[in-house]
Amino acid sequence: MRELKLKKCLECNSLVNVMNNGEKLICCGKEMVDVKANSTDAAFEKHVPTYEINNNKLEVSVNHVMESDHYIEWIAFVTDNREEFAYLEPGIDAKAEFKYNKGILYAYCNKHGLWMQEVE
Ligand SMILES: [Fe+2]
Repeated sequence: MRELKLKKCLECNSLVNVMNNGEKLICCGKEMVDVKANSTDAAFEKHVPTYEINNNKLEVSVNHVMESDHYIEWIAFVTDNREEFAYLEPGIDAKAEFKYNKGILYAYCNKHGLWMQEVE
């Protein structure tokens, strides 16, 4: 199954979605590092996207606060031939809808990074 491949600059916090290759990307004079999902020391159940399937739609939510200094920046759904991002902002619900398919859901917390959940 295809996965998101994100790289981050530890100097300026730039985040890059790598479309192909990207083995060695340099930012601020240093090599960017791979962003691994579900690897931050934070509450799993507050970050991992959960979903329900209704009428062929994937209804996704993240049980996370949406405050100005701590929120889910986006929810993404990646299938073998598609990547969709729903960009969020503080004050709205951490929710998104996608057309149902098998794939991988991601949520990105501005403080706690990348989280994922497979959709069967
Ligand atoms: Fe968080």
